[in-house]
Amino acid sequence: MKIEGKEYRTIWFEKKVVKIIDQTKLPHQFVVKELKTVKDAINAIKTMEVRGAPLIGATAAYGIVLAIQNNNDQQFIKKSSEDLIQSRPTAINLKWAVDRMMKKLSGINSDQILDIALNEAKEICSEDEKFCKNIGINGLKIIEEIYSKKKDTVNILTHCNAGWLATINWGTATSPIYHAHKKGIPVHVWVDETRPRNQGANLTSYELNEEEIPNTIIADNTGGILMQRGDIDMCIVGTDRTLSNGDVCNKIGTYLKALAAHDNNVPFYVALPSSTIDWDIKDAKNIPIEERNSDELSYVEGIDENNQVKKVLIYPKKSNAMNLAFDVTPAKYVTGLITERGISEASSNGLKELFKK
Ligand code: MRU
Repeated sequence: MKIEGKEYRTIWFEKKVVKIIDQTKLPHQFVVKELKTVKDAINAIKTMEVRGAPLIGATAAYGIVLAIQNNNDQQFIKKSSEDLIQSRPTAINLKWAVDRMMKKLSGINSDQILDIALNEAKEICSEDEKFCKNIGINGLKIIEEIYSKKKDTVNILTHCNAGWLATINWGTATSPIYHAHKKGIPVHVWVDETRPRNQGANLTSYELNEEEIPNTIIADNTGGILMQRGDIDMCIVGTDRTLSNGDVCNKIGTYLKALAAHDNNVPFYVALPSSTIDWDIKDAKNIPIEERNSDELSYVEGIDENNQVKKVLIYPKKSNAMNLAFDVTPAKYVTGLITERGISEASSNGLKELFKK
């Protein structure tokens, strides 16, 4: 997708180096950062220079490539794979990508291992791009249906950033929106700011602006009244881990939006590639929910009147704060799951039917 008119992907490999768009610098600075070692990859995931479930999976896959490039000893590769999986707990794509890499590399001799790892990491990225495009084609049908009845701008609410910056290209939640826009359907996006890290304001609104899609940032608590007023036609969000029963783990605050949508008969869709489905955990209580440093709540970063980036404390110095990063929306509040294979009911039967083979 575009930044200042130029096409980008979120991660690429060039001359033995992995290149990423540093998301901690957006929207005020556009910085391409180089990752040269597996430690760099782990650090980029931990500090959220890269973030979003599919993108951290892709970064971990390239992390294995960087590890091998540095030292192709089996023990080092195994330890690196474990460290990568530990770098963030909630998004299942991370483990999915590392497991896929390690399976591909098992029994491969040291002469070939680097080439095979690099090809597999590139394949993970191409596949994600293809899957996200298909999510867009499938989700477009829902937007078209709303438009054909309403014959006016379709208003879509999204939470956090499940845009192309969180994947390799297209995004998950944003892909149907990009497809609708390209087809000439008038769309407008309500962008939840998404405290505390403001991925909605800093990343989703930024990327929609670059693609010239009308959007408005709202405080996270505004969605409810907009739904009551009939100003939201549908919600589409992403997910970090969706269970086989259709329960959806996503950025903190998603659950409250789903409750409001349910109360107001607003369709609530979740868009995801199959790499985000956790077929093993059966009970949402067992999903590891990341708790991040409370400084993310109490400090806010922005630019001052001289265009200088500044970080300021906004809470009373003596206050405690707590920063859970994800919540779980029970399947009963999810209208449907938009995947690369089609749209399914958020239920065991729905997902089983879609992923039969
Ligand atoms: O903490 P983050 O910014 O990595 O959280 C990301 C989200 O919650 C996204 O909605 C999710 O990863 C889906 S990305 C296509």
